[in-house]
This record gives sequence, structure tokens and C-alpha cells, in this order.
Amino acid sequence: MVKICCIGAGYVGGPTMAVIAFKCPAIEVAVVDIAFARIAAWNSDQLPIYEPGLEDIVKQCRGKNLFFSTEVEKHVSEADIIFVSVNTPTKTRGLGAGKAADLTYWESAARMIADVSKNDKIVVEKSTVPVKTAEAIEKILMHNSKGVKYQILSNPEFLAEGTAIEDLFNPDRVLIGGRDTPDGQKAIQALKEVYAQWVPKDRIICTNLWSAELSKLAANAFLAQRISSVNAMSALCEATGADVTQVSHAVGKDTRIGPKFLNASVGFGGSCFQKDILNLVYICECNGLQEVASYWKQVIRVNDYQKNRFVNRVVSSMFNTVSGKKIAILGFAFKKDTGDTRETPAIDVCKGLLGDNAHLSIYDPQVTEDQIRKDLSMNKFDWDNPIHLQPMSPTVIKHLNVVWDVYEATKGAHGLCLLTEWDEFKTLNFKRIYDNMEKPAFVFDGRNTVNVQKLRDIGFIVYSIGKPLDGWLKDMPAVA
Ligand code: NAI
Repeated sequence: MVKICCIGAGYVGGPTMAVIAFKCPAIEVAVVDIAFARIAAWNSDQLPIYEPGLEDIVKQCRGKNLFFSTEVEKHVSEADIIFVSVNTPTKTRGLGAGKAADLTYWESAARMIADVSKNDKIVVEKSTVPVKTAEAIEKILMHNSKGVKYQILSNPEFLAEGTAIEDLFNPDRVLIGGRDTPDGQKAIQALKEVYAQWVPKDRIICTNLWSAELSKLAANAFLAQRISSVNAMSALCEATGADVTQVSHAVGKDTRIGPKFLNASVGFGGSCFQKDILNLVYICECNGLQEVASYWKQVIRVNDYQKNRFVNRVVSSMFNTVSGKKIAILGFAFKKDTGDTRETPAIDVCKGLLGDNAHLSIYDPQVTEDQIRKDLSMNKFDWDNPIHLQPMSPTVIKHLNVVWDVYEATKGAHGLCLLTEWDEFKTLNFKRIYDNMEKPAFVFDGRNTVNVQKLRDIGFIVYSIGKPLDGWLKDMPAVA
């Protein structure tokens, strides 16, 4: 039986390995992590992450050919193929702070592999890493090898949170990069055979190591760039009376452009887009490609601009002050169908409003109060100027209420901000919400989810990103 071990039981390691175990009953898969609580949760009825369809496949495989364990060294030493799916956050201090990927976790995983391995291994980069990381990892492994041979492969993950299981079952492509040597090609073949159990062979792309590593950064940069492009257009739509939904539709009909990822919003979030673009920017700068670096940097600048613009719109619409006013925040996760709040635009929007002394009442179906409070009390990391800013003051955090019901969140509120596109928000009883709010009652839709006309007919003053402005909002000070 082939044995696979995955180091890192996070948003990528957990679902990816669950699907491999599900699709390949002849392979034994162990997912290991140093975080005891996370492994305990994977072994419980309450999985540590929410993904549609995940619980079902974990339950079917757990204890048969899928194991979650904190016995990292044991499982690593027994495995034939080791996936490394540890976190690779942006460095917050030292050389490259604010841009470069922090490979501390990766390096410590590599050193541990070298320490405990007694037979030849294939080591697979699953984490998103800078180009040429494989070379560094190879050096660490070779210099500590004690006669064991290693083949390093790059197999970046393209799943999207919220649709992880669907994406893993039916990927657009699986990318495997390896050395152009007989041993390298043999390793590629071994990994290809795993995926070929359920992925059509023509969707498994094999490249050299550096192309595979760079393709992941490039793909995320392209995706984020589309969002920033449509968000930049949304500002122009508001200024001119065009409707961003109509513009996106017309633009996306061009088969060279395509319709996906063209929804205007309050901004992109998630653990990857910003981090991976910053990483790309750093690599460009290190290679003397300043123009290329500043091109990609602009994608993040527009994202920050969009979040600020949203906050400014809320404050300026409500007579230039939200001080002491209750504002309901509907949705905190960075997108629907996930409980993940890493880099969610809701953090910046809430901090902006709390900074203006608003009283927030937050509802999200998948995010706990603890998580929200933790996110809002963390220092904001300024990627463009990597110094830590002041944390929020405890008094400001006091003006925060987390509730488990939309109607409670909106009761007595002056305004509501819709920040995550949860399906349940499409079927809310807005008449009931309106009746229980202070007047004038404002809706600020950061996801273009609500039916603007229907809400205006009820009596709301509605702002929806990139849509023609309400007469009321036109009279308010311009938002830059
Ligand atoms: P995560 O933070 O959810 O999980 C990483 C896990 O690795 C943590 O549980 C941590 O305790 C564990 N870990 C760190 N060092 C370890 C060590 N030495 N030994 C054992 N366990 C260790 O991160 P996530 O979201 O799963 O991301 C992992 C990588 O995959 C990152 O490089 C990310 O950029 C990439 N990625 C993430 C995607 C996403 O949607 N979250 C999508 C595609 C790629």
C-alpha cells in the first residue's frame, strides 16, 4: 500500500488529503499537524473548517485509509510521498518584510523530514511558495540526508475555499513540476498516478519545477487583477451613472475575456491573493523588474482603495458621521460558504466604522464571536510600509456585538452593510428589517446581492457597489 503523509492539516491539507483518500482506497493517507486542537477537531464531529461536502467524505474515510494525527515524525518516516502544506504567510519583519513569503514553517518541516527519513521519499510542495523554493528545500534535504534520496515536486493547489471539494473532484487542471532527470520524471509519474485515479490524464499538466511554482503565483495574480479591474470600473460607474453589472455582463460576453470573476464587490480577501501578489512583487523586485512589480502592486492598492471607498460611502451617506449609531454587519467571512476570515474585507470595513465610533452588530452564519473579536483586535499590517500600526483601543472594541440572528443584528440599526454574499441574505424579509430600523434606513450592499429597486420601494436608501446612485446619495459629499 502506498503511504502518503501530509504535513499541515489546514484549509488545503485537510480537504486535499480527504479527497485523495476518498478517491484512492488503496492509498493510506495520514494528515499530521503540530496544532493539537486542530487535529482533535479533525477527529471529532465538529471539523475545524467548514466546506460544503467535506464532512461527508471525511466521515466515509476516517479510520479506514484517512488518519489525522499529531505524531508528525512517525507518519513522515513511514510515508513514500510527503506533501508539505504548511502556511507560508507574508514576512512581517526582517529582510523582505511586507512582501516576501515567510518560509520558517516550510524550512522546519524540511529539516524534520531530513531528520526522520530512513528510505527514499518524494517531497511535494503543496503550499504556495516563491519560485526556486524547491531548490532551497532540496539543499536542506540533501545536506542532511544520511544516504536517503529525495525527489522534490511542485504540485500547487488551485482549490477555492467554499467550493474546495467540488474543485478537488473536478479540477480544471492538476499541475506537477519536477526535475528533468530520470528520477525526477519517475517521481512525476508516481504522483500523476495518484491523481489519475479520478482526474482525466489530459488535465494533468507536467512542467519543470520553476514553471509550476510560478504558475500558482501567476494564477492568483490574474484572478485578483480581474477583481481589482472590475472594482476600479465600479467607482467609475458610480461617477457616471453606468451600472457595473451591465458593464461586466457586456464585457464578459467577449469570449476572449469570459464572464467569471467579474463581480464588483467591497474587495477581495482570503489568505492567498494579497500574500501571493506581494510575494510576486518581491520576486520581481529581487530580479530588478521594478515596472512589473509596480504593475502587480497596483492590484492590491485598488483593493485597499475599494474597502476605504466603501467605508467613506457609509459615513458620508449617514450625514458624515456614524458616531454612536448602530450599524448591522451582515457577513464577516471573506466569501460565502466558508468560515475563513483571513484578510476578509469585513475587517477593514468594521475597523473603519469603529474608528468613526459606530456601534456594530455583526452576524455571520459560520464565524464565531471569538474569531471576530480576535480579528478586530489584531494590529493591521501595512504591507506598503511594514510597521505595525496601533491596535484598536479596547473602548472601541466594546462597541461591538456579535449575534446569531440577522433580525436581531438589524433591530434599531441606522444602517446595514452586507459584506459577504451568503445565499440566505437573498431571501431575507427586508420589510421586517426596515420596520425595525431607525429612519432613514440605509442599506450598503458590498456584494451586489440585494434587489436594489425592491429595497428602495420598501423605503430604504440603498447603495450597491457600482450601481447608479440613489438620489439621496448623489446629494452627499463625493467619495474618492
Ligand atoms: P493553514 O494555516 O490553514 O494550515 C497550515 C497548517 O500547517 C496549520 O494547521 C499549521 O499548524 C501547520 N503547520 C505549520 N508548520 C508545521 C510543521 N512544521 N509541522 C506540522 N504542521 C505544521 O493554511 P492553508 O490555508 O491550508 O494554506 C497552506 C498553504 O496552501 C499556503 O501556502 C497557502 O498559500 C496555500 N494555498 C491555500 C489555499 C486556500 O484556499 N487556503 C488555496 C491554495 C493554496
